[in-house]
Amino acid sequence: MADVLRACEGMEQTDKPEEADVILFNTCSIREKAEDKVFSDLGRARLLKQARPDLLIGVGGCVASQEGEAIVKRAPYVDVVFGPQTLHRLPELLARRERQSRPQVDISFPEIEKFDHLPPARVDGCSAFVSIMEGCSKYCSYCVVPYTRGDEVSRPFEDVLVEIAGLADQGVREVNLLGQNVNAYRGKMGDTAEIADFALLLEYVADIPGIERIRYTTSHPNEFTPRLIEAYVKIPKLVNHLHLPVQHGSDRILMAMKRGYTAMEYKSTVRKLRAIRPDLAMSSDFIVGFPGETEEEFEELLDFIEVAQLDRVGAFKYSPVEGAAANALPDHVDPHEQEDRLARLMYLQEEISAEKLAKKVGKTMTVLVDDVDEEGAVARSAADAPEIDGLVYINGADLEVGEFVTVKITDSDEHDLWGEVVRK
Ligand code: 5AD
Ligand code: SF4
Repeated sequence: MADVLRACEGMEQTDKPEEADVILFNTCSIREKAEDKVFSDLGRARLLKQARPDLLIGVGGCVASQEGEAIVKRAPYVDVVFGPQTLHRLPELLARRERQSRPQVDISFPEIEKFDHLPPARVDGCSAFVSIMEGCSKYCSYCVVPYTRGDEVSRPFEDVLVEIAGLADQGVREVNLLGQNVNAYRGKMGDTAEIADFALLLEYVADIPGIERIRYTTSHPNEFTPRLIEAYVKIPKLVNHLHLPVQHGSDRILMAMKRGYTAMEYKSTVRKLRAIRPDLAMSSDFIVGFPGETEEEFEELLDFIEVAQLDRVGAFKYSPVEGAAANALPDHVDPHEQEDRLARLMYLQEEISAEKLAKKVGKTMTVLVDDVDEEGAVARSAADAPEIDGLVYINGADLEVGEFVTVKITDSDEHDLWGEVVRK
């Protein structure tokens, strides 16, 4: 949103709401009742608008896409409402708001138009996030994404490559390919009828000079094809980190979730990947307290976690989001029981994570410097994804953002590592 407004309107971002001409709320509806939070935040923006009537207020993201006009009905001081598929139309919506003197709502799904209109993402450090596809056609029973984001749509192959080459020219060294299901990527190649899959895209991205590390998020176990597994042999620039959400360890629950694979199939993919890359750091997501989850099924999940030996885990209590099919299932798990199961899962995983990180003490690794201050630097190993995972703290070294350095690990806890520079 900031990029779009900067490119079209020359707007600058500010951290101070009282200085802003436009305040935008970006909302998420993946879990819990996000609407309530949005309206309480909006209430505070309204006070600012009372003092300065020219202030424009906008609501974007998936809550906007779900609620649409209802937002303006409940909060008439909101000027524009737009969905994840229409955020590129923000300048136009704001201008129309001025011209017509009434709130504007656009939560349509114009498919690929969005990708065509987005200015290239501006990058501050040495990492960039590049959208390659959007949406999801999997319809897991607990999830709203297919409804809020629409079906899977991929950007044309050349568009993605040209954008990444441009970012590499600006000094980007690490690229993070984004999409709800990146391995469902089917990119049109030029004017031909040929379609590139995700494995092919990875090969081409790896050939772009300047790009040293490639990550992607999120992939789905179902389309983790032999070609994609093979990419871990062919493409050393693919980092030793993979976030592959599994959601549960019990086949009955996986079936009820409509995930389309068994726990065994997931473990088999992990086994193949680890055979190629023994140091591959893996993370996953889990949902506890899915409707009908018994104590035995939850214990199957704990056993799965014990066996899988993942490096990091995101775990969430099942939350009945508006529109999800699983809400109609019987035997919803009591919220206290959900809380209890979540705590048991996290306790087990913390032991595993701490043990895995402790094994890194004494080893050396190459890290990418993300941030520096007077005390030292914060860096990421190949296993640490920007904004998601743990970090490597380096004391007192004179480093620059964007630099790759070799560090020796001196200490660890259950999330992060500490190290000292051995070579710049
Ligand atoms: N309840 C709880 N967790 C959910 N997730 C998605 N939908 C729900 C829901 N209704 C979790 C999944 C997904 C992560 C982004 O959020 O684990 O991988
Ligand atoms: Fe939601 Fe399932 Fe699609 Fe992931 S794959 S976004 S969980 S419907």
